[in-house]
Amino acid sequence: MSYISDQKPFRGAVRAARSWLHSDAPSLSLNGSWQFRLSPRADVPDTIEWDTIEVPSHFGTPIYTNVQYPFPIDPPFVPDENPTGDYRRHIEVPPEWLGTGRVVLRFDGVESLFKVWVNDQEIGYASGSRLAHEFDVTASLKAGDNVIAVRVHQWSAASYLEDQDQWWRPGIFRDVTLRHSPDGGIEDAWLRASFHDGHGFLEPEIVSEGFPVTLRIPALGIEKVWEDAASVVAFDVGEVRPWSAELPFLYAAALSTTAETVSLRLGFRTVEIRGDQFLVNGRRVVFHGMNRHETHPVRGRVFDEEHARADLARMKQFNVNAIRTSHYPPHPRLLDLADELGFWVILECDLETHGFSALDWAGNPSDDPSWRAACLDRIERTVERDKNHPSIVIWSLGNEAGTGSNLAAMSAWVHGRDPSRPVHYEGDHAGEYTDVYSRMYSSVLETTAIGTDGSRAKLLGCTPAQGARQRTKPFLLCEYAHAMGNGPGALDQYEELVHRFPRLHGGFVWEWRDHGILTTAADGTPYYAYGGDFGEVVHDGNFVMDGMVLSNDVPTPGLHEYKAVVQPIRFSFGAGSVELANLRHSADTSDLAFRWQVTHDGEATSSGDLTVAAIEAGASARVPLPAVDIAAAPAETWLTVEAVLAEDTAWAPAGHVVAVAQLDCSAPRAVAATPREPRWEPGDGTLTLGPAAFDQGTLVRLAGRTVAGPRLELFRAPTDNDEGTSGNPAESDGSLAGVSNAALWRRDGLDRLTTRVVSVSTAPGALKTVSRVAAAHSGRSVVVETVWTLAGDELDLRVSIEPSRGWSTVWPRIGIRFDFPDGDNPIDSAEWFGTGPLESYPDSRHAALVGRFSAGISDLSADYARPQETGHRAGLRSLTLGGGLRIDTVPDTRGRRPGFTLTRHTPQEMARAPHPYQLPPSTTSYLFIDAAQHGLGSRACGPDVWPDFALRPEARTIRLRIR
Ligand code: GAL
Repeated sequence: MSYISDQKPFRGAVRAARSWLHSDAPSLSLNGSWQFRLSPRADVPDTIEWDTIEVPSHFGTPIYTNVQYPFPIDPPFVPDENPTGDYRRHIEVPPEWLGTGRVVLRFDGVESLFKVWVNDQEIGYASGSRLAHEFDVTASLKAGDNVIAVRVHQWSAASYLEDQDQWWRPGIFRDVTLRHSPDGGIEDAWLRASFHDGHGFLEPEIVSEGFPVTLRIPALGIEKVWEDAASVVAFDVGEVRPWSAELPFLYAAALSTTAETVSLRLGFRTVEIRGDQFLVNGRRVVFHGMNRHETHPVRGRVFDEEHARADLARMKQFNVNAIRTSHYPPHPRLLDLADELGFWVILECDLETHGFSALDWAGNPSDDPSWRAACLDRIERTVERDKNHPSIVIWSLGNEAGTGSNLAAMSAWVHGRDPSRPVHYEGDHAGEYTDVYSRMYSSVLETTAIGTDGSRAKLLGCTPAQGARQRTKPFLLCEYAHAMGNGPGALDQYEELVHRFPRLHGGFVWEWRDHGILTTAADGTPYYAYGGDFGEVVHDGNFVMDGMVLSNDVPTPGLHEYKAVVQPIRFSFGAGSVELANLRHSADTSDLAFRWQVTHDGEATSSGDLTVAAIEAGASARVPLPAVDIAAAPAETWLTVEAVLAEDTAWAPAGHVVAVAQLDCSAPRAVAATPREPRWEPGDGTLTLGPAAFDQGTLVRLAGRTVAGPRLELFRAPTDNDEGTSGNPAESDGSLAGVSNAALWRRDGLDRLTTRVVSVSTAPGALKTVSRVAAAHSGRSVVVETVWTLAGDELDLRVSIEPSRGWSTVWPRIGIRFDFPDGDNPIDSAEWFGTGPLESYPDSRHAALVGRFSAGISDLSADYARPQETGHRAGLRSLTLGGGLRIDTVPDTRGRRPGFTLTRHTPQEMARAPHPYQLPPSTTSYLFIDAAQHGLGSRACGPDVWPDFALRPEARTIRLRIR
């Protein structure tokens, strides 16, 4: 049997796992150019010519699968068609490294199995792609020139343990280092730093043959010498400032022997589960977290520190306070950044066997003794490498690996090695070996049932007794709010539960970034590729594009919504005052400044600062508001209050908005009366009404522009959630198990409606048309009555939309569309008074503020990786297009105003284009005025739209005033 199918994780001179330490011992980076040759098979014939490759990088062709194994499930074997890369390079070893101490060759990440030779002597092999491996190469090195060779196989037995939902991308993708470990140096160190009653405590563990060892913590005036290992004991370091994700105080520390010094940064904090609550430093933690993969549009999983730092800063800017390192340990530097910027981290082991679900978990490595050594090796390497980081507050055994004895053994190992941090694993549904209760994508109803004491609601995979046990533990959503395409909806509903039920500790959005790979179409157009774009035999399409940040680093509207929903300062307006609640874990509000602004119809009329004494974490304070001068109706008056950073931080400049709220102070408005119906006479409908010209009842010119419409539009380019089939339909409204809403819309022909004009009539200064709109082979219809009335220099348009009986599904939208062909004066921008600046939908509307905004047409849409519905801005008051045409909306009898979308493509065109570059060239700007839009939900992987935000077919009226 070839070593490729060896279930043992390594053989040969592999050294024990240890911390990733910053040391002053000499080392050589072996990153850079290596000789390289690639074979499509596991053997590499000598006929293949050498080329070169940059290390770190990936080789081969990317393959994207979610659950599927891209090779037959035949454990522990993999096909002979196994892309294999041979790497070689020469190195000059400093002569002083030889003859004393040891020389260690370290690999921080190689996917998936690699074998190492030094000067043609075989050193060993190892697997565990996102884990560090060190080989002792002392005996094989010689003075002067040495040759290091590495053979990397894409597939191996280890691939069965690495079935994460991401691209399969082999290669030496993290750093390679040769280091000299001096005699009497420090082999490993763990400075466990805890916090109790204002004091820091250190419990050191030092592996060294070089005692005495000296510990120095200059900021605390500590210099401690331990003569031997036996004298190393825990001690009180005195008063310290504790570490938290909000106030990440770090103390520089150094451990020295005469041969080596390693430096660490200590964060004093104590993690604890008390009853059903998860506490740090005695206070309950709420995770406003993101699942973070290592992914970069050009570099793949190769770490780019600047990019990662910018991403983490972006997380902080968007009120994210936690990271789950889905689904493997990241590059070790990421954790330094997390310590420094401040995040609660769930550090996850590199383990997933999801594809075995296709066999009903038969043969699952998580429960097969022949894989135990590999599973244990993985968790050991995970914990040992990163154990010193204060940001890590929970260890996670892996993801979607079913359940079984090997997972239980991994958990037991962690409990033995690090009792100071709880163990997480979502797949332990019954709570047999983990410390926190975790679920993914549980609906709002189920999550409520988990939070509720005494609830008998059955919990997934649990007997009643197991359910009772799970309810004794802190609960978190390790994944929720699947952020694929336009969405997710309902973030606010999940957030509300966290504040209602102390057992619920928040969760981690799936996921932070899209994993698009920057590539080019045949005609050279750049685009972000997803599954299937590289000719994969099996793949999962665009399911890898489910981030809160697009591949090009642009935050989605969903991330803006998230920021608004989880904002750490909450505002409740009362008469003449506002109550400010500080929901943070430990930081007071002394880092914030508070300011206010009054606007009349979106124009600022006054502004100022609020004086707010620091509010402790968890406390609130009532603060008087300025007197607001209220504009005469129909103008609107809004008061906006913001909490902004008072000073620059490591992650955002002074003035960055942390939290914001608005209060509508407008004088009461009278509801606009519907113009009295004139006496209609049948007419041919060819006439001019002020700025509008009609030809046989059809609008043809408006304000000097060629135009078509308004036509009824009920379709939207399905979002990934509209195309989704997951969730429990019983909890939503009208969705069918296993059938997407988009499929029902296509079935009912919403994307291919046809029109028959029933009547055209006129009156002095007025025109009315009645049409019947319906799809081929359908008896269902919608009657649309359009009435144009000239009133002075304003044109009043009323469109009444009335569905027939028999429509059985939710509708994506109820709206009308105007087409403005470019001619020589294209409509390429909009100014509006309404909500903005970004899009909003019924279940995702917290980031939308009322104000005056303007944008170019391309900035009005989000660039989702697969074209889909985007750009709806609800609550439109007034819109000016192309500088001239002004459209005001009139609220309907229930006070509702329509929203608008301005775009270069129809929903039908967008629905047909798998990627943006496949959209047809556009010669028209399309304006949609929607009386209503369906919510977003997160059914791509999770619940459908909550009933309150589902759009049922219903009669609606849209009223506009056009100038
Ligand atoms: C989860 C899984 C993630 C991802 C997500 C859907 O089940 O843990 O890795 O696949 O679903 O995007």
